[in-house]
Amino acid sequence: MAAICCLAMAAPAREPVYARHGMVVAQEPLAADVGVQVLRAGGNAVDAAVAVGFALAVTYPYAGNIGGGGFMTVRMADGRVAFIDFREKAPGRAGHDMYLDTTVGNSSTRGWRAVGVPGTVRGLELAYQRYGNPNKSWASLVQPAIQLADQGFTLSASNALFFVKAGGKLLHDPEARSSFSTNGVFYGAGALLVQRDLGRTLTRIASEPDDFYQGETARLLADAMAANQGLITREDLRAYQAVERKPLEGDYHGYHIITAPPPSSGGVCVLQMLGMLDGTDYAKAGPGSVRSYHYLAEVMRRAFADRMEYLGDPDFMMPRMSALLDPAYLKARAAGISPTQATPTAEVRPGQLRSTEGADTTHFSIVDQAGNAVAVTYTLNLGFGSGVAVPGAGFLLNDEMDDFATRPGFPDSFGIVQGEKNAIAPNKRPLSSMCPTIVLKDHRPFLVLGAPGGGMILTAVLQVILNVTDYGMDVQSAVDFPRIHHLWNPNPTNDYLQVERTMPAPTIAALRKLGYRINDQEPIVAARVEAILVGPNGRMEGAHDWTRGDGKAVGY
Ligand code: GLY
Repeated sequence: MAAICCLAMAAPAREPVYARHGMVVAQEPLAADVGVQVLRAGGNAVDAAVAVGFALAVTYPYAGNIGGGGFMTVRMADGRVAFIDFREKAPGRAGHDMYLDTTVGNSSTRGWRAVGVPGTVRGLELAYQRYGNPNKSWASLVQPAIQLADQGFTLSASNALFFVKAGGKLLHDPEARSSFSTNGVFYGAGALLVQRDLGRTLTRIASEPDDFYQGETARLLADAMAANQGLITREDLRAYQAVERKPLEGDYHGYHIITAPPPSSGGVCVLQMLGMLDGTDYAKAGPGSVRSYHYLAEVMRRAFADRMEYLGDPDFMMPRMSALLDPAYLKARAAGISPTQATPTAEVRPGQLRSTEGADTTHFSIVDQAGNAVAVTYTLNLGFGSGVAVPGAGFLLNDEMDDFATRPGFPDSFGIVQGEKNAIAPNKRPLSSMCPTIVLKDHRPFLVLGAPGGGMILTAVLQVILNVTDYGMDVQSAVDFPRIHHLWNPNPTNDYLQVERTMPAPTIAALRKLGYRINDQEPIVAARVEAILVGPNGRMEGAHDWTRGDGKAVGY
């Protein structure tokens, strides 16, 4: 890292993991190992991503899934780019106000009515069909997950802790309770977790992915929905499609960024924030300086204000992308930033567009020997999703309906104020913050990254990109470095600059002097970024976010 005066200090230095032929970085070590096995056996990065996605559904019940959805950003060595959107959809019977009537016990985060139509299996299938190695069979990519489910795996301490901290809701659901506990006591660290129902479901998917949407798994899911006043029908499942979209692309300081388009807000906001920072002296401010954090906070709240006003599912309304990313617009947005004073959030409004053109989650990054790069972020939304599992099928369902504006104008579970463009409608995808991202340098993959963490995803991805591109950090230092997070919340009582525990007291004091409200009694653990940097000589450097959670970078 460049020797620049830093007020904030990274965690004790740790080297990235180095490899020459292939690298996987994921938030659960057994799943990361599955990915490397696939690479070693001749699979490409997309094949490995499919296998890791299924493996995490077994080894990381907190967020790995087949009952949720997500996004995959792909950059093939031959230059093709792709974005696979397998975001959940609102069921056909969902409605704008479905969570407003609290008298019927509706909840957008718990139970059967919180669930969006899952997209993961269709998304992994589409990625495999379009970009996988035709010499690898689909079944061979699901097989490691089947084995982990049938034979079991030893629960790590951190995996067991997720159940204790966030799993209480699972004990109210018979299938989830029997999958993860003995008579209501969660399996602890060192226990063998065997998931036979899930193994049978995965076996059906291995022989025919349509099973999830039209076969026995679809029947089990739809029957459970009907029995529990849920909304998803067999027709919803049959109609679900994953979509290949054009990724968003943009440039920053000589780097080319390939990232998530709507229905994610993640890529739009990252590109907006980079564009606004370009109009400040952020790059000169130096890592950890008060001024660098000030500029970050200012661009974050402006991006979140635009997110609320302008973004939603592109299948329902085309977000005004070229206007939102217009350099002149971003320059004008940045012009309102004072270098010496925080702007009160009440004074930050969504920008006026000139053109009329129309937690938890998990992330893994993969690069293979040929130079194909894949970034995948997928999710059940909150940890363990809605807390309900499909009887006889052994998998948890998401609570992605909470990512809609369940009450437009009010914050969601991640504190993000949501707007009318993201209101619930039948068959609509909820707006996301996930942004699996690939950064190119000299037309070759340079940085592959992403994170879980709701709105913190896009602010964490931004900061790691900047730590590498503007501040010259190695990838592990860039991931470890203390981060901030600022949402746009016009309600003054909820308007905070959030900081990590590692933020030094003098930095906090100096930021307060600039006008920020900071609740340092409740520091955040910023989103866990999992990143790979590829050097000019092809050496891969894997950085797992070890100071913020478990996981593994592994290569060969
Ligand atoms: N479920 C979190 C997100 O998609 O942003």
